[in-house]
Amino acid sequence: MLKSVTIFYETFSVGYIHLKDQGKLSFEYEQKWLNTTGNFPLSTTLPLREGLFPDEVIMPWLANLLPEEKQLQVLSRALGLATSDVLAILREIGGDTAGAISIGEPSIRKDWRYVPIEAYYGKESQSSALARHFDDLGKRPFLVGEDGVRLSLAGGQEKTALTVLGEDGKPKLGLPSAEDQLAIPKEGAPSTIIIKPDNNTWLPGIVENEAYCMTLAGLIHLPVAECMILEAEGRRALGVARYDRTIRGDGSLRRLHQEDFAQANGIYPGQKYEQGTVKGLDMEGLLRTGVYLPPKDALKLHDQAIYNILVANTDAHAKNYSMLFGKKPGMAPLYDVSSVLDWDHVNQYHAQKIAGRRRKPGNTAARHWEAIARGSGLNGAALRRRAGDQIDAMVAMRVKATALVANQPGASSDLVEHFAELIEKNALRIGGRLKEEF
Ligand SMILES: Nc1ncnc2c1ncn2[C@@H]1O[C@H](COP(=O)(O)OP(=O)(O)OP(=O)(O)O)[C@@H](O)[C@H]1O
Ligand SMILES: [Mg+2]
Repeated sequence: MLKSVTIFYETFSVGYIHLKDQGKLSFEYEQKWLNTTGNFPLSTTLPLREGLFPDEVIMPWLANLLPEEKQLQVLSRALGLATSDVLAILREIGGDTAGAISIGEPSIRKDWRYVPIEAYYGKESQSSALARHFDDLGKRPFLVGEDGVRLSLAGGQEKTALTVLGEDGKPKLGLPSAEDQLAIPKEGAPSTIIIKPDNNTWLPGIVENEAYCMTLAGLIHLPVAECMILEAEGRRALGVARYDRTIRGDGSLRRLHQEDFAQANGIYPGQKYEQGTVKGLDMEGLLRTGVYLPPKDALKLHDQAIYNILVANTDAHAKNYSMLFGKKPGMAPLYDVSSVLDWDHVNQYHAQKIAGRRRKPGNTAARHWEAIARGSGLNGAALRRRAGDQIDAMVAMRVKATALVANQPGASSDLVEHFAELIEKNALRIGGRLKEEF
């Protein structure tokens, strides 16, 4: 029976999760961690202080580290654990998670190993090894059960976390070039890239769609995770460089801590959409999370929320915004952005309610921006001005963004142009209503 599980940052004990009767958890920081220079809190909900944090605080935070929906079901079945047994699942797979921490075992640099996927699957090319890897993910998400592999990331989509190795065989940051290799991180090693395969049944064109949204965001100067399209024997995937990894002077990787906005607001993954009777985070609440950020970073948050409305990313729920913890918290770059406009079968209402009601992004008018601003303590005119500036920049950069994405190997240029057209129309429709009387 588990009594206590340690949370580590590399080899440092950060704190302990205690299991009490009836499965209730509590958390406390290790005293040495509280006294260490360069320490960081795990969450805005877990400020650095002595004493116990109760189940209501630690449980949602932990649950948000796990994958969701089918991914969680398959994974927990493979482990022989209940989907609700969050701590036991994380003890098995929580070695490399979103952010800097490892659960249950320290991450010891000299033990880290990387196995190139070609060698792992006995394939000659990255493309065929990736295709095999994607087949594998359906059966065992994050290679659960593989010796030395302990990976977990949130989200409902199938995905993998790998490490890019340069020509010298050493891990490197950023996207892979043709000479680089993709490798499975083992024995506590950090991953550096997240790869999200296509999903032709449910979300046709997701790879081009997301690549376009992210590339356009970068061109209009929103900080965004770097991405590229990868081919895997006829399948496609989006490779996204991890922004929560950096490199030390000696060339070894270092994890940076992050938490998503569901964690920062103490809500469960199941509350990520404000729908039905579920109370999650409305748009105003989402923007109020900016109180944890320095003013410059709060503006980045506002820009991300605006952009998600303009491209009609109805899936921009609380787990698709994150903050990074350096000396002070800062806004993480934009990630997981796609437009719902081509997918009639997918929920067309924005993840957050705006002024108490579910709304479609394309119907956002001046009075809605004003309501968002009022509810989150912002200046309505300034928010609308920022939205207007983004729309102008999006129109100016459409051709460049389309070309950058369409020219990537494996991309369908027809699809990219189609998404670009839908997104621009949505943004211009919103732009036309920015100055309405309200
Ligand atoms: N570039 C990145 N760097 C670091 N962490 C990332 C990056 N992209 C995503 N993440 C983390 O991984 C999680 C899952 O990624 P992502 O949101 O792209 O997946 P998803 O399955 O599409 O999610 P959803 O369920 O929202 O559709 C994110 O919530 C975030 O914590
Ligand atoms: Mg997501």
